[in-house]
Amino acid sequence: MSEAKKIGLLTGGGDCPGLNPVIRAVVRKGINSGFEIIGFKNGWKGLIEGNASALNFESIAGILPKGGTILGTSRTNPYKKEGGLESVKANFKKFDLHALIAVGGEDTLGVASKLIKDGITNVVGVPKTIDNDLSCTDYTFGFDTTINIAMECIDRLHTTAESHNRIMVVEVMGRHAGWIAVEAGLAGGADVILIPEVPIDIDEVCALINRRHSRGKTFSIVVVAEGAEFKKGMMVTREEKLDEFGHVRLGGIGEILGKEIEKRTGYETRVSVLGHIQRGGSPSAFDRVLGIRFGVKAVELVIAKKFGRMVALAGNKIVDVSLEDAVKALKTVDMELYGIAKEFFG
Ligand code: F6P
Repeated sequence: MSEAKKIGLLTGGGDCPGLNPVIRAVVRKGINSGFEIIGFKNGWKGLIEGNASALNFESIAGILPKGGTILGTSRTNPYKKEGGLESVKANFKKFDLHALIAVGGEDTLGVASKLIKDGITNVVGVPKTIDNDLSCTDYTFGFDTTINIAMECIDRLHTTAESHNRIMVVEVMGRHAGWIAVEAGLAGGADVILIPEVPIDIDEVCALINRRHSRGKTFSIVVVAEGAEFKKGMMVTREEKLDEFGHVRLGGIGEILGKEIEKRTGYETRVSVLGHIQRGGSPSAFDRVLGIRFGVKAVELVIAKKFGRMVALAGNKIVDVSLEDAVKALKTVDMELYGIAKEFFG
């Protein structure tokens, strides 16, 4: 057995652009600092099953610009699996891990935070999610790529909407928080932006569209987050089945909204659901750099034995925050920012 201390690494939850830059940075910084890096496959599933292999410079060659994660991911929750926690503990021992770096969103890092209380103390978190809804960090990596993809789609929809004098409803991701809708909508010049934080007032939406059209405009772009609701607690779902973290599969609000807008305003309306296109493909420069900085910092926290911490972005500095605090509550849209977006409605 090698003498080097081992760091386990896993990526969990929905994939997002920037995961591979984090993996590459953890492997580089880790090996340069005398550690061995063990990559667990498919999130917590790999740690439960003991499915892992050592990562070296060869394993990370050429992965920087690639979307997704070379480690694979899943929405597996060890606390929802018979004997899951025991298997995680046993494999931690079996692989002789000194520490674990968990890269994920609220669910994956929520598990990481629980594990610490259950005796697996040497854990460090790295915040990932296209939704940008993790607390204690200004940004999660993945978000920037997603809003750029969504913005480009909105730009493209503008030209066809204008040519056909149509209303275009664009459904973007964002389960509990409307960051993608607000920032992509602002950047793409949306005429109405609807988010999970503010229940949809259909009368107001139609009034805004009518006001715009009364000024001579013949088309409008409405951006709606998939988690937006007409009434609080009434999300539109594609599937009622819950995943291991208690989430339903969202999607479909755009269709309902589009029909309602067409019925009430009389303007021809089309709906585009951007879906997983927003999550695929190459990370932006911002997400690559953020992922790299997070990965290096995560190893530094292991070296400093600062466990139970999550790396985070504060202004332009990479800092560390309490993992427990980061997963306590979601970071919802800043209403000041939404206020700015509203200046451009209608
Ligand atoms: O959590 C990120 C996210 O992209 C959400 O915006 C979305 O609701 C969900 O994942 C989709 O998950 P899945 O890829 O499992 O359908």
